Amino acid sequence: MEISLELSKALYIGATVLFVLTLGGLSNQETSRVGNIYGMLGMTIAIIATLLGPNVTKNFGLIFILMASGGIIGIYLAKKVQMTEMPELVAILHSLVGMAAVLVGYVNFLDDTISFMGIEKTIHLIEIYIGVFIGMITFSGSVIAFGKLSGIITGNPLMLPARHYLNLLVLIFIFYFGYEFVNQSLFDDNLISLIIMSILSFLFGVHLIMAIGGADMPVAVSMLNSYSGWAASAMGFMLGNDLLIVVGALVGSSGAILSYIMCKAMNRSFISVIAGGFGTDTPQQTPSEQNQADVISIDVKEVSNLLLSAKKVIIIPGYGLAVAQAQFIVYEIVKILKDKNIDVKFAVHPVAGRLPGHMNVLLAEARVPYDIVFEMDEINGEFSDTDVSIIIGANDIVNPSALDDPNSPIAGMPVLECWKGKTSIVLKRSMATGYAGVQNPLFFKQNTRMLFGDAKESMDAVLVTLQT
Ligand code: TAP
Repeated sequence: MEISLELSKALYIGATVLFVLTLGGLSNQETSRVGNIYGMLGMTIAIIATLLGPNVTKNFGLIFILMASGGIIGIYLAKKVQMTEMPELVAILHSLVGMAAVLVGYVNFLDDTISFMGIEKTIHLIEIYIGVFIGMITFSGSVIAFGKLSGIITGNPLMLPARHYLNLLVLIFIFYFGYEFVNQSLFDDNLISLIIMSILSFLFGVHLIMAIGGADMPVAVSMLNSYSGWAASAMGFMLGNDLLIVVGALVGSSGAILSYIMCKAMNRSFISVIAGGFGTDTPQQTPSEQNQADVISIDVKEVSNLLLSAKKVIIIPGYGLAVAQAQFIVYEIVKILKDKNIDVKFAVHPVAGRLPGHMNVLLAEARVPYDIVFEMDEINGEFSDTDVSIIIGANDIVNPSALDDPNSPIAGMPVLECWKGKTSIVLKRSMATGYAGVQNPLFFKQNTRMLFGDAKESMDAVLVTLQT
């Protein structure tokens, strides 16, 4: 069965609309489920329109085997991967998009049934060259990002001498071989230019990500997400597929916007992330004079009493909540407090955890209603009339030195200003620093109480006390 080109184009427009609706839906927690459904529908239509369209050889047996094996591997990975390992998975998946763009570029170049003349040939060759270039950087960069995030490669930034000049030199060579690729008339010479550029782009991608420190890796992953979109767009140009061009551009631009939002929330400039060098995997040592003896500890019973006597409670989740998987038990506590007419809200920092939306996903998993979950900008003004803030496995996102200490590595990063409330209760296992490796003066404030221990075990104990 084959559908006409016109019908396949009409279906592509329908799929494009669904993909735009997907992005709109995913921008808000309440509509994200519907957004996902739009995306799945759009993708199904896109696949069917492509398979039945006039440009695909109808070898459905082979196509089915390939799609089924890809699908099975995908389902297995999605089920197996832990929430905290998500950035690694995303990184390695981007590498596949990059490699696909490289392969499509080579196949397009080697395919002797495609013949263009004059300006059309030049445009075709430029499309191939750019597609392979972006694809190769995405591929090698993503593989290195995967290695760094999973600890196979050190998180320390690689600081080669004159590294910016090195990058510039490689780019000049890539431009030179691009000129040669488009202007040479001999096929073999063209192929050599393409192969040399592929090797240079591979090394460029490796160097680009090797220079980025551990603390900036999530931004680098979102940047690679953007590259993978542009790589897909380039594939769309090579294959003459309008849907791939548009969808690639949607992924490319949303990845770029996400990188920008993350940089802003971490007070990093995008250029300094790309230039690399920030963040190592060896956090700053905790000053010895600031140990558990210098802070005011609290026990489970006292936490329950404080909660029960409060009128307003704000819960601040952080990376430790994800590690402890305490979200379910926290919501049980919230239900008890709400039954006692205590106003309970969640305050979510834009870079809490290790990936965008990390906390929102955890809270949604525990079925916390969206109307009690607030973003930092919405809730920061409310701490002054809050009786108790519970900080669960969070550290950097509640660090007052980001605002008070211009020399702090996180100076200028907006934070949740919980210390302005009556009492802050911090749940963590030790006095260890958070991701940025900086000590947190919040722990030493007079109105802060520390409940040491695994967040889930502590919350379990608080729940038992509240129930008795
Ligand atoms: P962190 O500052 O990393 O602090 C997490 C705290 O959780 C640690 O101090 C740790 O202290 C505690 N913890 C770990 N496991 C625990 C457990 N089982 N029970 C109780 N506590 C536990 O996390 P945050 O406040 O969420 O801040 C996020 C950081 O990641 C920021 O620096 C942010 O810039 C960075 N970052 C985030 C993103 C995104 S997109 N979310 C991207 C890049 C970077 P103990 O070891 O003492 O328990």
